[in-house]
Amino acid sequence: METNPLLFGRREFLLATAAGGAVQAQTSSVSMRKIYSLNRKWLYGGKVRDVAPGADDSKWERITLPHANVLLPWHSFDEKDFQFVSTYRRHFKAAPEWNGRRVFADFAGAMTASTVSINGHNFEEYRGGYTPFSVELTRHLKPGAGNVLAVQLDSNERADVPPFGGNIDYLTFGGIYRDVRIRVVPTTFIENVYAKPVRPLEPDRELLVRCYLSGPVTQPASIAIELRDGARLVKAANAVVNGPAEFHDVRVTGIGQVELWDLKNPKLYTVIVRLSAPDGSKDEYVTRIGFREAKFTPAGFRLNGAPVKLIGLNRHQTFPYTGGAMPARAQRRDAWILKRELHCNIARTSHYPQSTDFLDACDELGLLVLEEIPGWQHIGDIAWQNIAVRNVGEMIRRDWNHPSIILWGVRINESQDSHDFYTRTNALAHALDDARQTGGIRYIYNSELLEDVFTMNDFGFPLQLPNHPLYLNTEFNGHMFSTKRFDNVTRVAEHVIRHARVHNQLASDDRYAGGIGWCAFDYNTHSNFGSGDHICYHGVSDIFRIPKPAAYFYQSQCDPEEEVVLQAGFFWSSGDKSEAGGVGNVPILSNCDHLKVYLAGTLKAELDPDRKTFPYLKHPPFMVNISGLPLNPWGDLKIDGYLKGKLVKTLTLSGSGKDADLKVLPDDTELMGDGSDATRVVLLVTDEYGNIKPFATGAISLAISGPGEIIGENPFALAGGVGAVWIKAKETAGEIRLTAKHPYLGTRSIAIHVKAAAPEIL
Ligand code: GAL
Repeated sequence: METNPLLFGRREFLLATAAGGAVQAQTSSVSMRKIYSLNRKWLYGGKVRDVAPGADDSKWERITLPHANVLLPWHSFDEKDFQFVSTYRRHFKAAPEWNGRRVFADFAGAMTASTVSINGHNFEEYRGGYTPFSVELTRHLKPGAGNVLAVQLDSNERADVPPFGGNIDYLTFGGIYRDVRIRVVPTTFIENVYAKPVRPLEPDRELLVRCYLSGPVTQPASIAIELRDGARLVKAANAVVNGPAEFHDVRVTGIGQVELWDLKNPKLYTVIVRLSAPDGSKDEYVTRIGFREAKFTPAGFRLNGAPVKLIGLNRHQTFPYTGGAMPARAQRRDAWILKRELHCNIARTSHYPQSTDFLDACDELGLLVLEEIPGWQHIGDIAWQNIAVRNVGEMIRRDWNHPSIILWGVRINESQDSHDFYTRTNALAHALDDARQTGGIRYIYNSELLEDVFTMNDFGFPLQLPNHPLYLNTEFNGHMFSTKRFDNVTRVAEHVIRHARVHNQLASDDRYAGGIGWCAFDYNTHSNFGSGDHICYHGVSDIFRIPKPAAYFYQSQCDPEEEVVLQAGFFWSSGDKSEAGGVGNVPILSNCDHLKVYLAGTLKAELDPDRKTFPYLKHPPFMVNISGLPLNPWGDLKIDGYLKGKLVKTLTLSGSGKDADLKVLPDDTELMGDGSDATRVVLLVTDEYGNIKPFATGAISLAISGPGEIIGENPFALAGGVGAVWIKAKETAGEIRLTAKHPYLGTRSIAIHVKAAAPEIL
């Protein structure tokens, strides 16, 4: 849980615009466009419905985005609690230099249907909680102060908006839960840029830059493009464009040598597009790309021509307490966990487009992504389908330059066939982005394949045969074997094995491109799903993102050069079993090649990877028969891991049964004082060697001082020896001190420094 520089920083010099998901360099002096963050100083009226511009909002709560319309316990709440209509208002001042420009409010995401108004003028309701939308304020603005942007937000599960209308086994929550920005652009401006590397593996590689302008160009306008590697100009190109075309293509040729984007070296380049139009408009648009070729073939997935067996997990974007409303740092942390802690090479954004902060981190870390439209089993009427088709366009237009994205999911997850509907979604995806294949996540093996890749949720074992071209398993396990971190040893160990055996089968045949397990993290759900406490315990990690033993299977599949992994796929006990006859065979997850197992100081077993059961895995689990050790005398279990005869790692599990230590572990020790930046603080009760005590309880009382607040329950009652809260920075700099007191393990205290953030201009 070390602090990672990759998780800081990007925000401080880059702003991702909601429209187009482009990346705008704040430092650029030539840019005519201006983007203002509008996350702070919002007023939240809760269920108040009065949005008249002059309405008295002096008593409303001052809040910062991302915002959850209600804070919830981490489980066992009522799913009706966040389903209501709420009202937000933001007063701002229009700057004199906006005269003669066009002004937009860009919403990156508000759940679920937003009626935005500016100074009393209502825009048409935008329906959809996962996709960005913009409204043009220009004509309705007043000069100077006194402008009121208001949102009436319907967070009900509305049957007319995907994914609703049927059942869904996850929660959508409510609130303006992503960023809002004001974008000020010239009359003619760059709406979006699709930058596609052409023949990235060949020496004559090119970059196709498709420029979407705000409207027809009636007189020649010039476009200048720069491909940059940081500050270094790699290649420039210029073009003159004219006419009513929907977009204008400019090719950057003669690029020469580039570093490819791949899993180990996710090299990113910047593309800057500058527009100069005869009406005096000058605009600049900045985006990031990677040179890479990603292709599903009949013999598996290829990245830059090399086979890569895909091994990954599905991710829901929801967090405890706030649902989706978590800032960039938390979104990025999930990508970090998946790539660097669990060593996955792919994630699926089940079941909707997720935060661009998450995708940015995937680009930077080299984590492949399957992104899909909102939906779950249910297909609504034609109006509903039209929204889903629109979602395809919104998702692709927002995210088409992310090199991490290798596949668009353009079918409602696990829906029935719908020929016309899915003909439309596929056609649109291909028309917008011919560089990526489409998938459509299904659970009916013989369903109609209109997509390029056969993406199948297959929960049985053994898996069905890969008798479809381009076969990717997109879900397995999950509800078939829901496992809490505090279940007994046999169940927890079986959970590990079930993930291992599926990946073993997927590795056995090149026609399987790989598999994306269900799922990364436990998640909140409706009362008619999950374990009866509003949680689907389907994660290899819990809802706080703390690994369960199944997570260690994923972790152990990396090369030892990356990390030497040695983890127990069980808890150390003699009698926590499902049946008579002892705990039996349990897995140890490691990429070592040999293990020695000691009980109370005596060597009891020497183990090699179980290649017989898992012949196709790179690093098969080691199986140890606990009941046969024998267990007398009882004591600590020590496992030594060897690589080529050399001892490289030791894991010791205490036999004392004692709760020995309380750990309070912040992911970060520095936050931005912008009122929304937040970091997770993990609470753990461990044995003497630092292993989680899976049945430890205890109410941890938290006290905070300084410019921060606790997002979470206080006191926090540990579940399975663990838990977490998030510490959110206020809008001032200083030192946060968090003190955690356990009933018998004492008190721990941590400090988090809050840096001053630039004030929000508007
Ligand atoms: C699938 C579904 C997922 C989740 C999973 C549980 O059918 O696509 O969203 O419900 O089952 O295993």
